[in-house]
Amino acid sequence: MIHSELDKFKDGFLWGSASAAYQVEGAFDKDGKGLSIWDTFSKLDGTTYKSTNGDIAVDHYNKYKEDIALMKEMGLKAYRFSISWSRIFPEGRGQVNEDGLRFYDNLIDELIKNDIKPIITIYHWDLPQKLQDLYGGWESREIIDDFNNYCITLYKRYGDRVKYWVTLNEQNVFILLGYKLALHPPMVKDDKRMLNANHIASLANAKAIESFRKYVPNGMIGPSFAFTPNYAYTCKTEDVLARENAEDMNCHWWLDIYCWGTYPTFTLNRYERQGVAPEIEDGDIELLERGKPDFIGINYYRSETVEANEIDGISDFEEINASGKKGTAKNYGVPGVFKTIKNPHLDSTNWDWEIDPTGLRIGIRRINSRYRLPILITENGLGEFDRLEDGQVNDDYRINYIRNHIKACQEAITDGAELLGYCTWSFTDLLSWLNGYQKRYGFVYVDRDESNVKDLRRFKKKSFYWYKKVIETNGEVL
Ligand code: BG6
Repeated sequence: MIHSELDKFKDGFLWGSASAAYQVEGAFDKDGKGLSIWDTFSKLDGTTYKSTNGDIAVDHYNKYKEDIALMKEMGLKAYRFSISWSRIFPEGRGQVNEDGLRFYDNLIDELIKNDIKPIITIYHWDLPQKLQDLYGGWESREIIDDFNNYCITLYKRYGDRVKYWVTLNEQNVFILLGYKLALHPPMVKDDKRMLNANHIASLANAKAIESFRKYVPNGMIGPSFAFTPNYAYTCKTEDVLARENAEDMNCHWWLDIYCWGTYPTFTLNRYERQGVAPEIEDGDIELLERGKPDFIGINYYRSETVEANEIDGISDFEEINASGKKGTAKNYGVPGVFKTIKNPHLDSTNWDWEIDPTGLRIGIRRINSRYRLPILITENGLGEFDRLEDGQVNDDYRINYIRNHIKACQEAITDGAELLGYCTWSFTDLLSWLNGYQKRYGFVYVDRDESNVKDLRRFKKKSFYWYKKVIETNGEVL
């Protein structure tokens, strides 16, 4: 649809920015915090870019007031951050750590004092190591109750001040990378285990939502999904079918469960024929039914183009580009289902992520129309090399990227989609899980790199001033 005029963003639109505890906080063992699986995984040889870890990260734990003062200066309306489970429960369960709870109390109060709405992500990948050791983390149904207790602790403590909550960040990513590709902890490569762990995570998600209704009746809650809409490479029918397959396997597999409590027919049938389908027990479907979200959080960075893949075609997954050397990422595929191919119409970042604002509009529309739920863009942004020169960073490329994606949101709204807000990734620069510190996303440059923590000084980039204007004008001036 081409509109002669675009709708305005509604009043109260959440112009936000996002982060995650492990990527910004540091203080990995301070004030009673227990270790998370990322604290241990990142210290194993060869797991992260130049062996980077979040021990110090960008020291948000100590600098949160300075960071929030910058958010205030920008006029940010919402800040999405995650809570570190092992800061609250050092062992994942049992004894609660009051110092940990107090840190987030202070963070939330400081945000509210500065007119910034907190959006809490309950889980952004940093599972307490103790639960991994005790029962294998997401592979055991014991985690459902432990996660629920952790959630209830947060609801009781912060539910009076926080309206928007995100349950699991990118379940599709932490499950695929953790249990199929072995690129994230616990470094498993096993489809059957992957699909079971995923099913258990979906149950934990539903249970957490069910409890939320009781403790935060006026709040809104939903998962954040890493959404990569798929396109067919050509209109050859086998490519169109490959696109259907990819969308079913990579998107509906998670979103149907969240929103409808059922797995999509074709992918489930395929997994059953292979003998790897998840084990569904009595009561599971009822729990999924009771734990449906109020909105879908979308983390959007790129689209993906696919074509038919022979039965003995490309298997395994892509070789990822963690170095920023453009052109080093490899295609991946599922034999007999689909394989990815570079879209000749799209440019890519230096990390080979295809830049596609229209993909965001398409994605919002697909989700909104299939599930009839409002959408919160919980992440969108550009990871690039930035150069600090005389205290300045001229990141016009980031401004262009975000401008075009905001415009795509506005077009989707004009198409009829319901959008609660838009959070960029990220406010300050931060640690990228597998890509170190050189892949920067922030409006605020943090002076550190992989080998030198330096003084962690904050510098406002050009994009900082640009986004400030966008917020001031409620998106009228892009
Ligand atoms: C999302 C995650 O996958 O993408 C973030 O929720 C992450 O935590 C972001 O940092 C960007 O990914 P990357 O790999 O470039 O850091």
